[in-house]
Formats: sequence, C-alpha cells, structure tokens
Amino acid sequence: MCGIVGYVGKREAFDILIKGLHRLEYRGYDSAGVALINKKGNLNIYKAKGKVADLEAFAAQKDKSGKIGIAHTRWATHGAPNQQNAHPHYSESETLAIIHNGIIENYAVLKKGLQQHGFTFRSETDTEVLVQLIEYIKQKDNVNLQTAVQLALNQVVGAYAIAVLDKENPNLIVAARKSSPLVVGLGEDEYFLASDATPIVEYTDKVIYLDDEDIVCLERGKGISIRTLSNVEKTPEIKKLELTLSEIEKGGYPHFMLKEIFEQPQTLAASMRGRVNVELNNITLSGFIDNKDKFINAKRIIIVACGTSWHAGLIAMYCIEEFAHIPVEVEYASEFRYRKPVINQGDVVIAISQSGETADTLAAVEMAKKQGAFIFGICNVVGSSIPRTAHSGCYTHVGPEIGVASTKAFTAQVTALSMLAFMIGREKGTLSKEKYLALVKDLALVPDKIRYILEQNKNIEQIAEQFTTAQNFLYLGRGYNFPVALEGALKLKEISYIHAEGYPAAEMKHGPIALISEEMPVVVVAPHCGTYEKIVSNIQEIKARHGIVISVVTEGDIQVSKLSDYTISIPAAEESLTPLLTVIPLQLLAYHIAVKKGCDVDQPRNLAKSVTVE
Ligand code: G6P
Repeated sequence: MCGIVGYVGKREAFDILIKGLHRLEYRGYDSAGVALINKKGNLNIYKAKGKVADLEAFAAQKDKSGKIGIAHTRWATHGAPNQQNAHPHYSESETLAIIHNGIIENYAVLKKGLQQHGFTFRSETDTEVLVQLIEYIKQKDNVNLQTAVQLALNQVVGAYAIAVLDKENPNLIVAARKSSPLVVGLGEDEYFLASDATPIVEYTDKVIYLDDEDIVCLERGKGISIRTLSNVEKTPEIKKLELTLSEIEKGGYPHFMLKEIFEQPQTLAASMRGRVNVELNNITLSGFIDNKDKFINAKRIIIVACGTSWHAGLIAMYCIEEFAHIPVEVEYASEFRYRKPVINQGDVVIAISQSGETADTLAAVEMAKKQGAFIFGICNVVGSSIPRTAHSGCYTHVGPEIGVASTKAFTAQVTALSMLAFMIGREKGTLSKEKYLALVKDLALVPDKIRYILEQNKNIEQIAEQFTTAQNFLYLGRGYNFPVALEGALKLKEISYIHAEGYPAAEMKHGPIALISEEMPVVVVAPHCGTYEKIVSNIQEIKARHGIVISVVTEGDIQVSKLSDYTISIPAAEESLTPLLTVIPLQLLAYHIAVKKGCDVDQPRNLAKSVTVE
C-alpha cells in the first residue's frame, strides 16, 4: 500500500525514481510525487493526481535535476486522492520533504499542538503533520535531522515507513519504519530505498531489510548508519537479493495478471521443488519437521488471513480436518485481532499472506504470539514481516506477484497448506499410507493438469464474451470447492466491478435463489467429488428458474454438462486437490470479462496489492 522510492548517489535521481514508482505502482496508484534537491540546493516537489505517467507529464517541463530524491505513489487514507494530498509534503519552511506509507493514528492531537505553535497545513493528510513535527523539533531543540526524526517518531502512534529530505543537508536521506516495510539497496557510494525490492533489483543485489523502529541515514560520501527509536546503534545486516528483473516484467503478456495465471505450472513446480519427491513418495517441509510435535499435539489450528489468502485458509480447513483430524478455525485477521479470542496452550496459528505485510494479519500474529501460540507463516515475500515474526513457516516461492488480483500466490498457498496437512496426517497416523501415496503422486501432477486447463483459454475467452454486460454473478461450490466459489466471485468483482457473490451451493435455497432469472449467470464449481449428486440437484433448481449455468466439471462429465449452458473441464484429481484446478478457469473467466469491459486488470480501482494499513 503506497510505494516509496529514494535515491542518493552519483547519478541523476529522477529517472531512477520514476522507474521505481512504475515498478511499485501496483501498491497504490491514485496520485504520485517526487522531491529532488538540485545542484543549487533547491528542494523541488512535483505532484500529480492519477498514475505515475500523469506525474511524468506534469514534470516534463520542470527542472528535474538532482542526485538525491524521494518519490511516492499513493493509496489514499487521510484525504481525497488529489494533488494537494499527494506526497511528498513540505514542512512549513519548505526545507524538509517527506513521503510516508502507513497511518499516524494520533495525527489530530499532534496537529492541534503544531497549530498552536503557528504551523499551517496545506493538505488533509496525517503525513504532513509528521513533517511539521520533525521541523518543529529540529528548530526547537537545534538537533540534526536524524535526531529530529527519532524524537518525532517517539511521539507518534501508528504505522509508518518514511523517507525525509533536508535541503540543508543535500547528501542525506533519513528513513524509518514501523509495521510497514522498507528495504535499502547498496551500490557504490549510492543508496536506493524502496518499500519493496522491485525498484532496486536492476541496480544491486545487496540489500538491507530494515526492522521495525529502525532509523537509517543514507549519506553520500559517509555511508549508512542505523539507529533504533530508542537510540541504540545497529550494525546493518547485508543480504543477497534473490530476485531477477524478468520476474518483475510482463514477458510478452498484455497484463501481469495473465502472465501470472499462465505461470502457475512453473510456480507450483517451484513451490514443490525439494519438497515433493515422487520417487520416494514423500513430502518434506522443513518448517514442519523442525516443529512436528507442535502440530501433532495441536488441540486446534487457527488460520488467520485476509482476502484471497483467507480463501486458501478455508480450503486448508477441509484438508487438515480430513487428513490430520485437528479442528480448524479460519479467521479474518481483522476480526480476530479485535475480538478477545481464547488462545490456549497447544494452539497452533497459521498465518497466510502473499506479501507477508498485511497489517491485520501481522497484528493478529503478534497478538497470538504474545498469548503463547505457536505461529507458522505461509508467505511469498522472503524477508517480509510475517515470516520474521513467526516461529516457523514455509515460503511459497512463486516470485513477485504484481497483478493486484492474486492468482499464482493463491494456488501456491493451497499447495503449501495441502503439503502441510498431508504431513501432519501421516505423522499422526490419521492418514493411511496408501492415501498419502496417492495424494503425493497426484500433487506432483498438478502442474501438468493446470497446463491442460490453460489450453482452454480461448474457449474461456469466448464464454467471457457473453457476459460483459452482466450486472451480477453467483458462484456456487460445495466442500473443497466452496472456497473456490468465493475466490472466483472475488476475482470477478475485484477486476471487472461486476457484483459477484460466492455461496455454498446448498445455501442457495436460503436466499440467493430469489435472485435467479435468465439475467443471472451462475458459475457452478462441480468436479467429481463426494457431493456431486447434490450439486446436480442444485443446478436443476437453477435451470428450473431459467438461470444461466457456467459449470466447471471433471473431464468426461455428462450429467452437469448436459444441464449447463457452458462447460469448462478440468482433469480428474484427488478431491482435496481439485481447488488447485477448478480455480484456474475462474481466474481466466474474470480476467477475460474484465479485459473485454475495458477495465485496468492489473491496477483495479480502489484496490492495492499490499494492504499495510488496517
Ligand atoms: C489485498 C490484495 C489481495 C490479497 C489480500 C491479502 O486485498 O489485493 O489480493 O489477497 O490483500 O494480502 P496478503 O498479502 O496478506 O495475502
């Protein structure tokens, strides 16, 4: 949520900053801005409502020189998305500039105090309050920028990643983080700063992931120093960045989302690499093996997540309960953290998050950890906050996911959770050896089965063509495929803005059936499984009311296909693994409908990839 880029070094900063903003645009894209200190020592700020391209157009004729700068792409929290509220923000005297990701919760109180000292405000943002506070402290206490930032942040309640420029010190960027990520890239007497590593990857593979409450000084000619909020000097820990440029580019696809859908055979193979061994008929997840007893003796597993990751958690509930016989509760992290949940000794909490930074999931993890739960993280972004907070876990290793609507991260999460469920079941003895072997074998075949489904892309595109004017969609599924119905509906509404609801098929009779008419497309996820006959009856109920049925069925299916207006087939699979297959046509259906409606699928309105505010 919001993208931050900074540069100080020997090159002109503007192009580096703009390129970085483009790479980070998936994090937020309602306005953008840049601050540069030029040779004459002027601190210039340019801002524009809209996307990074609008900022480029706005700045086209301006002085863009300077070898130090900070830049921001915004997802509005306080104040409308307009030029005034866009970052960077000047301080009162216009000697400081700040960019900020997060929320200053006590901004109103701080603002009042500053107004009493004569400070005036040009925007409605909480961010401007922070830069004014830094300036106030800097002047009042006659301290340098780093100390002023430190003293100011000690008064702040909330979450932040910030970067500050001071025109009186044109070689220095001061940055800090709390509950919102920041990465520093190290070049030769040049430093890069970003809210994730994507803007850095083409310049260096040496990075430092800042910890919560770190304040970093990046100073040309002097180097890097880190101090904590409580004034303890730290030695920076340099890591190697495991990311390639091709991973963050579209590679010939028109959209990141389509690229990521099509990547799934490879990304799932990567998620299983070194873990699923078909020759030995075995699964090895080191995060599980090191903590076997915690899982085997777990009285209960609580899964916390948001959005698509929550849907992956729901699938895991079916899988863990079936194979490991452990009761599972799946919680929206945002609800869980503010309830007074009862967490007992012996509870295991699994946190699922693509970004590893979702504010609510992170807070839920921190709370459960404090109350003594064992925390297992399933995340994609290496080095992000949730895996660093968890006791153990498993990375999904699908590479950067840039399309805002999650696709490849979801299937990898389901894969990781399935592996975990099978391993717990086997270790506990609740999953028979024969069934375990069948599951391992079938899991290894999933990438090829997805390849087969992707070959039906054209057919799915033609089906999509029929529904670009639909106002509402209903998605139905049962058992393991009920969460897939939820995920299919979420994909469609996220990127095409068509209202869509997911429902357990049998629940349809308790309300949604009232909506069914010839105007209402109903997507039914109906592979061969335990409840197949029941879902056939549900489809009959829809057809009796003239609903239009698009079904996802197992190859060779006759009954459901006969009743349906449109059919997409998947290869046969173990029931617990069918979600990995049935979700693919739903991703493609949503994608094609959105493209045909002219929607911006990679950057849908109002959404952001990484929700680092609650
Ligand atoms: C946002 C994204 C979703 C994602 C959710 C949870 O809403 O747009 O795609 O599922 O956050 O994110 P996480 O990174 O925790 O999986």
